[in-house]
Amino acid sequence: MDPSLGEGELGRLDDVTVVLSGARVLFIGPDAEAPAARQELDATGCLLMPGLVDCHTHAVWAGSRGKEFRRRLAGVPYSQILEEGGGILSTVEATRSAGEPTLTELAVDRLQRLQARGVTTVEIKSGYGLEPATERLLLQVAKEAGRRVGLKVFTTFLGAHAIPQAFRSNREAYVAQVLEEQLPIVAPYADFIDAYIDRGAFTVDEGERILRAGSGLGLGVRVHAEQVTHTGAAAMAARLGALSADHLEQIDAEGIDAMAKAGTIAVLLPGAQAYLKDAPPPVGALREAGVPLAVATDLNPGSSPVLDPWIAATLACISMGLTVEEALLGMTARGADALGDSVRGRVRVGGPADVLVVAPPRGEPVEPEGLVQYLGGTRVRHVIAEGRLVD
Ligand code: NIG
Ligand code: FE
Repeated sequence: MDPSLGEGELGRLDDVTVVLSGARVLFIGPDAEAPAARQELDATGCLLMPGLVDCHTHAVWAGSRGKEFRRRLAGVPYSQILEEGGGILSTVEATRSAGEPTLTELAVDRLQRLQARGVTTVEIKSGYGLEPATERLLLQVAKEAGRRVGLKVFTTFLGAHAIPQAFRSNREAYVAQVLEEQLPIVAPYADFIDAYIDRGAFTVDEGERILRAGSGLGLGVRVHAEQVTHTGAAAMAARLGALSADHLEQIDAEGIDAMAKAGTIAVLLPGAQAYLKDAPPPVGALREAGVPLAVATDLNPGSSPVLDPWIAATLACISMGLTVEEALLGMTARGADALGDSVRGRVRVGGPADVLVVAPPRGEPVEPEGLVQYLGGTRVRHVIAEGRLVD
């Protein structure tokens, strides 16, 4: 599946053999012309596709948000819980006191679960440390967990995730800490910088200062934008040349227009939308404006405890209105694009040997819709990550 290869939006090819060599794709074509291979996998009756790219997660944390889940079910809003010092801040407390071995063990477990469902590339944000040493540790743990599990990890510094309790009456002092103390220490461990701009979190102005500073150090920009309230963060992201603006439930026409002009990718997070009972983002208007659509799990312990990327893809269709093709591209090529990577998320000669073999629903034909129709029912037969068969 590579939009530039075969038929239709997904670039479908039928009856081909794919040969991998080391961590690369060596050949795609008729079986008769395929170079000999040491090991063969029969994918007859199945679909071979790129490994999934989960381009927005918060996969390194400790502690539990089970009690908060109950409160939200009872109707207490997510932003109110955060303003009271719970939510993200309760995970910060648990994460700060967990220690590196526990954080690594927990992250490895989560990445293994994602990988078993077909994720071969994942973006992981910090943001549960909110002080220099723990922020750096979270990014180190993210990379180490990726190495242990054998999947590609991109890291994002999210020191601007919440204002810590101790800085509630002096938020400017926290912004200064992010700029002057956190950023210089974490930058060597981060590929990107992100900021959560919303009610109860950071203002557009605070976020912009932090993102600009990160960008100045060579980090790609991505933004948690327009999730709970409309702030203008998406237009600001576009102005900064951000790779992506994520969430977008509350984006307006001006934000959409700015994203389209800047080529900023919309990362849709249907897990968070469902758990927070938010209205869907205006997918029709984003599509019409030509804003590329990516889909991710937003895996985190609070707003989106989603460990199955296929569930995110299905929810993107049924609660946000994506087509089957948009959802599949959103979890592959568009997800990679959102990470500034133009080779992952595609099966292409010379590209990474990150591929999946997925079976259609039992008794049904091999068609793309079979991959997303059943909520949590997608049958991933084989995952090959970096050329290695995952068992
Ligand atoms: O993407 N919105 C802010 N950040 C995360 C939530 C993290 C949490 O609730 O712990 C999100 O939804
Ligand atoms: Fe998030």
